[in-house]
Amino acid sequence: MFNNTTINRFQDLDTPFYYYDMEVLRQTLDACREASAKHGFHVHYAMKANFNPRVLDMIQSFGFGADCVSGNEVRAAIEHGFGKDKVVFAGVGKSDKEINFALDADIFCFNVESVQELEIINELAGAKGKKANVAIRINPNVDAHTHHFITTGLDENKFGINIWQLPDVATALRKCENLKFLGIHFHIGSQITDLEVYKSLCTRINEMQDWFEDHGFPVKVLNTGGGLGVDYYSPNGNIADFESYFQVFKSFLNVKPGQEVHFELGRALVAQSASLISRVLYVKNGKKKNFLILDAGMTELIRPMLYQAYHLIENLSRRAEVRGLRSEAEKQASDLTPHTTELKYDVVGPICESTDCFQKDVDLPESFRGDLIAVRTAGAYGEVMASGYNLRDHVQSVYSEGVA
Ligand SMILES: Cc1ncc(COP(=O)(O)O)c(C=O)c1O
Repeated sequence: MFNNTTINRFQDLDTPFYYYDMEVLRQTLDACREASAKHGFHVHYAMKANFNPRVLDMIQSFGFGADCVSGNEVRAAIEHGFGKDKVVFAGVGKSDKEINFALDADIFCFNVESVQELEIINELAGAKGKKANVAIRINPNVDAHTHHFITTGLDENKFGINIWQLPDVATALRKCENLKFLGIHFHIGSQITDLEVYKSLCTRINEMQDWFEDHGFPVKVLNTGGGLGVDYYSPNGNIADFESYFQVFKSFLNVKPGQEVHFELGRALVAQSASLISRVLYVKNGKKKNFLILDAGMTELIRPMLYQAYHLIENLSRRAEVRGLRSEAEKQASDLTPHTTELKYDVVGPICESTDCFQKDVDLPESFRGDLIAVRTAGAYGEVMASGYNLRDHVQSVYSEGVA
């Protein structure tokens, strides 16, 4: 992701910014498209992961659909050319305004998360003389074996409709004449790295589709959600294993003739394509701790503070190549100089909160004011969660192919 030319280019730019490696993004999308097309699977990109306009344009150009969780995401998807017949709208709290907007946009499907929501969509669709396609988001009570802050498919989570409420769903669907039942939807959590979890999900989906068919509701769409994880520890050239992921569903999902299988991947498509680039403002060497104080903090990337998430942190300015050391002998010799002394730092941001810390006790080469620091694997749930807290400037974006 970073060669010398790229790092030299960064020297002239104001920090902090997100750096998007569009080639990494392209390769990731290519790998996903190839692996899913093999089985005839449909992928909707979960836009919440990153709605940077350049990123959206590239994802759309690969023919993926869009999975949206707000009216504005539905609008952005359509504005960026995602076909409305490939836009799905999930979310546990859709407002009437958002539902009306999506009805007017004639989107493919609402993923409905409560019986009450079914009734409201029915009412709003009726007022417009329309019929809305719906899929029922079921909370399958399957443990995603990921961090509890990003687990969504357990009984204690707010998402989806619990299995014991399905008789009420059936009653509502029979009553609601402005709804067309398309299928069932699941999403059990994010950053899932244990593919066994998806086998358990398949078993539950198979049971659930039988339940609906037995109650007189033919299931056309099986939407398995997203959640495929990425490797935050070794980001270089490490694209998610889409082959194995889709193969699990091919092997364990009971797909009947005429059914479509849908996926809603977010993180796995975009995470490795971006890094947050920042500069060291100050170095504070305390008695107990060394602090590297960056010009980026939780206002630019909140995942470590919000989810205790790990991101690899690199000092780009202290790389041997960046310091002009080319031969192995030079690099070896440089290891003896003070510049390559390894120290432990708490890497923190400038925000007035003690939680504004990217990571504690990071081993880094001795670092200095002005050094460029990369926080890797920041393409998912990074820029989109940036905030203006402390009245900070909005974080900028820089692309490997030209500057925005
Ligand atoms: C309903 C739904 N689908 C898909 C996703 C995408 O998840 P991921 O980015 O982990 O693939 C999310 C993320 O929270 C979600 O809530």
